[in-house]
Amino acid sequence: MNKILSVFLMGIFGLISFNVTAEENNMVDKKVLVAYFSATGTTAGVADKLATVTGGDLYEIKPEQPYTMADLNWQDPQSRSSVEMNDRSSRPAIASKVEDMSKYNVIFVGFPIWWYREPSIIDTFMESYDFAGKTVVPFATSGSSGIGESGKNMQSLAPNAKVFEGKRFSASVSEEELKTWADEWL
Ligand SMILES: Cc1cc2nc3c(=O)[nH]c(=O)nc-3n(C[C@H](O)[C@H](O)[C@H](O)COP(=O)(O)O)c2cc1C
Repeated sequence: MNKILSVFLMGIFGLISFNVTAEENNMVDKKVLVAYFSATGTTAGVADKLATVTGGDLYEIKPEQPYTMADLNWQDPQSRSSVEMNDRSSRPAIASKVEDMSKYNVIFVGFPIWWYREPSIIDTFMESYDFAGKTVVPFATSGSSGIGESGKNMQSLAPNAKVFEGKRFSASVSEEELKTWADEWL
C-alpha cells in the first residue's frame, strides 16, 4: 500500500516539476520574427533596430512589383498606391515567403502608414499564413498619423492570431524605447 502511495506521489511531483519546466521553457523559447514592408526605407530602419533588440529574425515583405516614386504619389488619385488603397480587396503580390512560419511565436509586422492604415500588401501578408496561436504585433512609421485601425483590420484577416493594436514610431526611435515596448510580448 505504501509502495502504491509513493509511486502515486512521485507521479504527482513529476507532473508538477514537468509543468514548471514547460513554463520556464516557454519564457525562454519565444521565437521572434520581425517582418516588414518599407517603400522608402524608413520602416526598414526601425525594423532593423527592433530585430537587434529582440534577437528576432528579419524578413522583408518585398512586393513582386516594386513601388516606383510615381506609384507612391498620394496626390494622384490614379497612382498605384491610390488605386490599391481605394480598393479594400486589393492584395498586391509578395515576392517571397517566410521559410518556416510555424517556428515563430511572436511576429512583429512593420509598415508605413498609407491613408491612415496598413498598406494593402500587409493584408496580403496576413492572409498568406496560418497564424493560429501566434501573437502578432504591428508597428509603423508615418509622417504624423497614428497606427489607427491597422491592428483591427489585420485581426479580421487572421482571426486565429492574437493581433495587438501596435504602435507608430518616429524614424529616430531609440533601441532602448523599442526594447521597452517590445518586452511586453517577449
Ligand atoms: C501612398 C502614401 C500614403 C501615405 N499616407 C500617410 C498618412 O495617411 N499619414 C501619414 O502620417 N503619413 C502618410 N504617408 C507617409 C508615410 O507613412 C511615411 O513617409 C513613412 O514613414 C514611409 O515609410 P517607408 O519609408 O518605410 O515606406 C503616406 C505615404 C505614402 C507613399
